Parts: sequence; C-alpha cells; structure tokens
Amino acid sequence: MFGKKKHHTQIDKEQLELIEYAQSRIRQKKRLRTHVLLFFIGGLFLFLTNTILGVGNHFKLFNYNWHVIATFVWLFFLTYHAFNVLIGHSFMGKSWEKKQLEKLVAKQQIKINTLKKGLDKETEMMLQSQAEKATFTSEQSSNITIIVAASENNVIGKDNQLIWHLRDDLKRFKQLTNGHCIIMGRKTFESFPKPLPNRTHIVITRQTNYQVPEGVIVVHSLEDAIDASKHDSQPFVIGGGEIYKQAMSMAHTIELTKVHHQFEGDTFFPEVDALKWTEINQTFHDKDGNHEHAFSFISYTKNIV
Ligand SMILES: NC(=O)c1ccc[n+]([C@@H]2O[C@H](COP(=O)([O-])OP(=O)(O)OC[C@H]3O[C@@H](n4cnc5c(N)ncnc54)[C@H](OP(=O)(O)O)[C@@H]3O)[C@@H](O)[C@H]2O)c1
Repeated sequence: MFGKKKHHTQIDKEQLELIEYAQSRIRQKKRLRTHVLLFFIGGLFLFLTNTILGVGNHFKLFNYNWHVIATFVWLFFLTYHAFNVLIGHSFMGKSWEKKQLEKLVAKQQIKINTLKKGLDKETEMMLQSQAEKATFTSEQSSNITIIVAASENNVIGKDNQLIWHLRDDLKRFKQLTNGHCIIMGRKTFESFPKPLPNRTHIVITRQTNYQVPEGVIVVHSLEDAIDASKHDSQPFVIGGGEIYKQAMSMAHTIELTKVHHQFEGDTFFPEVDALKWTEINQTFHDKDGNHEHAFSFISYTKNIV
C-alpha cells in the first residue's frame, strides 16, 4: 500500500524513430566499410590470380587483362554503394522530413494565431481607450462653465481680493456651483477665508509641495484640473485672471455678472469675443439697499465652428 510506485520512463515516439534510424545508419556505414575492405582484398586476389598464378592469362577484353576489367566493374558497384549511403540517402528519408516540416509549419501557425489574437485584443483595447478619451474630451469641453463677475472695464479684482459685494450675485454663485467641482488658481484659493461648503475644490499651482486642507485637490495644470473633475457633468472654472485666460478656449459656457461700473484693479477678465460666443440670456438687476451697483447676469454659449 505504501510501496513506491514503479516509474516508467516515457520515450517519445519520435525519439524512438530517431534511435532506430541512427542504428540503421550505423549498420549501413559498417556494411560500406566492409565492402571497401573486401574490394581491396578481392582486387588483390584477382590481380594475383590473373598475373602471378596466370589464370585466364590469355583472356583479354579491349586489350586489358580480365582482372583489370573485373576490378573496374567492382569499383563501379562500390562507388554506387558509397554514393547511396553517403550522398543519395537523405537523413531519415524524404517522407519523414516532409512530416517534420509539416509539424513545424503547424506549430508556427499556432504561434502566429496566438500572437494575432493578442494583437487584435490590444488594438481593440487601444481603439476603445481612444474612443473613450475622445468622448470624454468632447463631453468635458461641452460642460465646462466659466463663472465670473467683471466690471464694465473687465476688472475682476485688486490685491488678490474682490472689489465689490453684491449679495444676489454671491447667492447665484452659490446656487449654480452647489454640489459641483470648482476649479481655481492658487491665488484665488488663497483669497478665501476657508473652503466653500458642498463643493469640490480643485486648486491649480506649479508648486509641488503645496499644502491644502483635507478634501481639496491640488493639480499642476488646467488640463489636470479638468481631468480631476471628469465625474462632474458641469465643472465650474471660478478664476482668477490667469486661469480664466487659459480656460476660455476649453469652456462651453460663460456665466458673467457684468457690474455696471468702472473700477480700478490689477486683475482682468478677457474680452468675450462676439465671433466665438453667443449671448443666450441677460437679466438686469438694479442697484438697491443691498447692492451698491447695478449689474446684469449674462449667459454666453460658445459657437460651434
Ligand atoms: N471677480 C471674479 O469673479 C473673480 C473670481 C476669482 C478671482 N478673482 C480675483 O482674481 C484675482 C486672482 O487672480 P490671479 O490671476 O491673480 O490668480 P489666479 O488665476 O487665481 O492664480 C494664479 C496662480 O495659479 C497657478 N497657475 C496658473 N496657471 C497655471 C498653470 N498653467 N499651471 C500651474 N499653475 C498655474 C499659479 O500658482 P503658483 O504661483 O502657486 O504656481 C499662479 O500663480 C484676485 O484678485 C481675486 O479676487 C475675481
């Protein structure tokens, strides 16, 4: 029950064929060697019989002694034998070679098919990811919204602060951006006393070790910011001047609060190019007890080229 199992050596059928063939080749070559030896002994014997013992001394063919003719005939057979063994005999025979060649071709074909399958899969994955990327880019760029408040002379801030306080504008900002990603430059982020509630802050900076409160995302380019907001159907670019300038080409919508007054400042909003943007809505808000200046909410959408 606990005895060792007998181990049977498995010899491959092809290996067996090779061994048998090698043995037969050795036999063939041994026979050829014997033939050569016999030829020399036989030749000598014929020579001695003919010339020394004088057997058939008078028999000549084409003026040659008969032993010369006999030796030449024998030599012809020996050459034929040697040719057959050494040159004419292909390794393992033609049919064996053909079989091996077919096997090799079949193996290579399997390898090629496997490689092809892998390649097809890779190409498919590549195309899919390219398609996803394209969809993502078009979806993203069609929903990026710039939200800004600018004066009649396009001023948006001074000394890293807003210049005006317009309660209803702030209300609208809160209402529109609530629950969304808000993308901003480092300076705008630093102008807030603390992060705004219920929004995902994405801060753009070139600083590699920029420290932010928990939950705030730091990126190093506008593209990365957009990428970080890809789960959001409408991310907002909220400023400041540097970021607005870069985002104009990527955004699809502008929500502008035009403050009807001229201000002095150090940061500006780019001119809205009427060739690129179409005004789709405008609401006027007059000045009152809570609003020192009159303003208008203006919505633009980017023209499809
Ligand atoms: N009226 C409005 O609606 C409104 C809205 C927002 C802001 N603001 C005003 O705008 C002013 C701030 O605007 P700002 O133009 O001075 O600054 P900003 O655009 O808020 O931030 C500029 C900073 O962003 C980073 N940055 C910009 N482009 C980048 C890029 N391509 N890659 C990596 N980082 C990049 C740099 O940060 P690092 O220096 O850290 O590298 C740069 O110094 C303030 O006065 C603010 O009150 C007004």
